Amino acid sequence: MSIQRKLVIKGGRRIEGEIAVQGAKNSALPLLSAAVLSKGQTDLCNCPKLSDCDAACRILSSLGCSCKREGNVVTINASGVYSSEISERLMREMRSSIIFMGALLGRTGQCRLSFPGGCEIGSRPIDFHLDAFRKMGAKIKEEHGYIVCTAPKLHGAVISFPVPSVGATENVILAAVLAEGTTEIHNAAREPEICDLADYLTKCGAKISGAGTGTVIIEGVEKLSGCTYTVMPDRIAAATYLCCGAVTRGEILLTHADIGSLGLVVPVLEQTGCSIYGFGGGRIYLNARKTLRAPQSIRTAPYPGFPTDAQPPLMALCATLPGTTMFVETIFENRYRHVSELKRLGARINVEGQVAVVEGVNKLSGAELEACDLRGGAAMVTAALFAEGVTKIGHTCYIDRGYEDIEGCLRSVGADIRSV
Ligand code: UD1
Repeated sequence: MSIQRKLVIKGGRRIEGEIAVQGAKNSALPLLSAAVLSKGQTDLCNCPKLSDCDAACRILSSLGCSCKREGNVVTINASGVYSSEISERLMREMRSSIIFMGALLGRTGQCRLSFPGGCEIGSRPIDFHLDAFRKMGAKIKEEHGYIVCTAPKLHGAVISFPVPSVGATENVILAAVLAEGTTEIHNAAREPEICDLADYLTKCGAKISGAGTGTVIIEGVEKLSGCTYTVMPDRIAAATYLCCGAVTRGEILLTHADIGSLGLVVPVLEQTGCSIYGFGGGRIYLNARKTLRAPQSIRTAPYPGFPTDAQPPLMALCATLPGTTMFVETIFENRYRHVSELKRLGARINVEGQVAVVEGVNKLSGAELEACDLRGGAAMVTAALFAEGVTKIGHTCYIDRGYEDIEGCLRSVGADIRSV
């Protein structure tokens, strides 16, 4: 992962063409972790080539799994798991490595890992995860910056989250599939990635019902076998490319996509005046060759609300639309870090607490920017496609964490983008 690479984008070109959407990062990571639970082999197809997935594979290898990638298929054999410890170095490489906790507890009855550390978009606490594991019988202590969990035999429990958490819901499902008895999760996250995880585990022999609703019930089973599974399409990458199409007032066809998982992203883009159609075979067509206008207000919320991860690229689009949009970010407290960089391009955005007010302008001008986090980086790319002149974006390693070859994808539809 190099922090030296820069994306160089010459804005003003209309995007026209087809992009095949990658497999979902936020699904691939829990699925890679889930593979630890099975004593057989998992072939994970459509696994995106991302630095975060590479980091997850390094964690799997360090635990004693064999893990190899051929194209977009990652094959994991977890029959030889010998360790339940993740080093601080590996934990730091990927912020969502906490997702290995449930799987390790389920498989080995223990785990030792360092705190995932501060995150660029907010504090990202893990109290829901730890409280749930305690209820399932785990003993948890902290020593020298490490969390040490032991649970020779996890048992089912009734767990109710104060607010829906994607990671905590996934972690409890992972811990519960091999636990003794039944686990009920109330106020569970309903994101499509939860369904993908449940579908994979069910294919391996787990008994899970209610995934995708607020109540998930898991009946523990004795063991899981491996299977071949295809990662769902990335709904945030799809939303980002739709915003890129719209910001250039272009026309774009996404393939390998799932319009059903996009939730409120579609009606919000329709409010701007874009036409969007979903076709069979995973295709989404967007036409923005018309006069667009700013949507009035966007409030991020757990699924099926507007996804916090799509807020930054949508904000970049709104910064170029006539009218005013009010954003209310309700999930993470530090999710407006892209704003100062968008302002360098000439965007008019005012932030106060969790509210950002965007007044659309008809011109942005290229500038030198630094990506600050994954989706903030995607917002900068989106805005740069509209800006006059050249925009250079540094710290592209953030963007590489979640977008597979963003540069190649956008170039293939006519954007002037290269990396130096
Ligand atoms: C996941 C996604 C991330 C997305 C987020 C919200 C992955 C790998 N990452 O992150 O891209 O932005 O969902 O859709 O899937 N919370 C607590 N205590 C906890 C856990 C969470 O207070 O123990 C709070 C968080 O601070 C946040 C809210 O719950 O305000 C939701 O966070 P959560 O759904 O857990 O996010 P992640 O799973 O980390």
